[in-house]
Amino acid sequence: MKKILDLITEETEQAFTECGYDKKYAKVTLSNRPDLCEYQCNGALAAAKEYKKAPFLIADEIAAKLSDHAMFAAAESVKPGFINFKIDPGYLAGYLQKMSEDQERFGCEKTNSPKKIMIDYGGPNVAKPLHIGHLRSAIIGESIKRIGRFMGHTMIGDVHLGDWGLQMGLIITELSQRKPDLVYFDEKYQGEYPKEAPFTISELEEIYPTASAKSKEDDAYKEAAMQATYELQNGRAGYQALLSHILEVSVSDLKRNYENLNVSFDLWKGESDAQPFIPDMVQKMKDDGYAYISEGALVVDVKEETDAKEVPPCMILKSDGASLYNTTDLATIVWRMKEYHPDEIIYVVDKRQELYFTQVFRCARKTRLVGEDTRLTFQGFGTMNGRDGKPFKTREGGVMRLESLVSEINEEMYQKILDNHSVTDEAEAKETAKQVALSAIKYGDLSNQASKDYIFDIERFTSFEGNTGPYILYTIVRIKSILAKYRALDGGCSGDRILPAESESEKALMLEISRFSAAMEAAFAETAPHKVCAYIYGLANALNRFYHETKILTEERKDVRASYICLLALTKGVLERCIEVLGFSAPERM
Ligand code: ARG
Repeated sequence: MKKILDLITEETEQAFTECGYDKKYAKVTLSNRPDLCEYQCNGALAAAKEYKKAPFLIADEIAAKLSDHAMFAAAESVKPGFINFKIDPGYLAGYLQKMSEDQERFGCEKTNSPKKIMIDYGGPNVAKPLHIGHLRSAIIGESIKRIGRFMGHTMIGDVHLGDWGLQMGLIITELSQRKPDLVYFDEKYQGEYPKEAPFTISELEEIYPTASAKSKEDDAYKEAAMQATYELQNGRAGYQALLSHILEVSVSDLKRNYENLNVSFDLWKGESDAQPFIPDMVQKMKDDGYAYISEGALVVDVKEETDAKEVPPCMILKSDGASLYNTTDLATIVWRMKEYHPDEIIYVVDKRQELYFTQVFRCARKTRLVGEDTRLTFQGFGTMNGRDGKPFKTREGGVMRLESLVSEINEEMYQKILDNHSVTDEAEAKETAKQVALSAIKYGDLSNQASKDYIFDIERFTSFEGNTGPYILYTIVRIKSILAKYRALDGGCSGDRILPAESESEKALMLEISRFSAAMEAAFAETAPHKVCAYIYGLANALNRFYHETKILTEERKDVRASYICLLALTKGVLERCIEVLGFSAPERM
């Protein structure tokens, strides 16, 4: 379905043309004075200059042409030259009726130029527990992926595991000291390696920090870890077998954690998967004359004349020939292009890596790893701070594990659900608490513009009132309960129609509903899930105002009562579709 805004624009364009003015002046926007009108066009003011005519004369002409149109309850010219529109309630009801006949998409059209977009998010590091620094990437990336899919694009989510580098050598070194008799350390060993990993996830999570701490104090230990890393990267069989174990134990734990967040990836590729592409890539960069040796290292210049700040060269290989984080990201672009030919790659990464990605993107473009028509997008996100405005920490001041954070909020929500007495069964209360807690975490994050820092305020996020996830869920649950009561009284609502609004709050609700596809489109175009949040907050508020001002189930006119119910059901459908793309869902009661 066309958006109401576009439909009004079309009519206005036609009116401008018919009155002898250029239709480029017929731009219509949402009103910034909703008390006066719903949509507005300020084009007469600009047209006045070109046509050397008073703006209000032009506005008068246009308004006169449009005022009889079935779409408008009013099209008025207001001095000095505004054109103000109010939608006809009957027209709006018809529009919503059509939306409600499309229970899948509520009239939101898929894009007519579908793209293949890879999205690099999550970015956890193997053998290190997920901590809150990984939360934002997972939440934002998942939502962008879902919004893109809803709009009809092919979205491929890749977790881009940090599975390459010194951390692996550290684990191997620590293990070799603790269990030197394991076959993995016997260089002469020729047989098959055991299927079962020689450690559990909790051991692994303890081994890494221990090894990392030791390496900082003990040079010989660090040397050993670097040697082990080198041997691993050069194919030592026992170490590669250990790497597979580390990966398998770590990945299954990561999957479980992401599942709890309702986050999932299409690809579980990692930094290690990019390594085979490095030698050819580097050779080509040299052959083509882009890469040169500077102070021993191999670099590619990426600065541009218009740079306000200095952008240092992109380092490809260190002076000892070792590859870097950059090299891996560039080689990752190589395999992504080779296997998927994406139109765009979006990186959802901490904004402190912005300069780094500028270097990588420029280098990729300059050395032709990607062509002109492939977009590389950096979607940086800000820091999640505690109430003190500093990066969020545990009470003891340590880095908070994601799992602890989630269970803390689940517990708090469980108490709230019990206090509410709507859910009495214990198992259901636990499930409901999880669902609502997830909405609190995700909405708390997504409702902020991604690039901004925000304060993770558990008390505010878990509140059932205000701009929060639980408030949105509460609104959906409220509608569900009214629909259930209606079914018990009147039976289903199929075949009923949405009637023109009779009250101001009903019309306001209808206008909000009608803006669903505009909100989704904008959220995708600007990779901005917060636009979906802002939309549903407005919609939930409009619904609740309508609910408080209207007798719904006790309305005596049967067709009006049925129309209210259709409107509520449509609101619920739209809200549910929106929270689905945000990555959470609503319970039956709470
Ligand atoms: N593993 C990295 C970290 O923990 C994030 C990876 C981001 N993605 C990328 N393609 N570099 O900081």
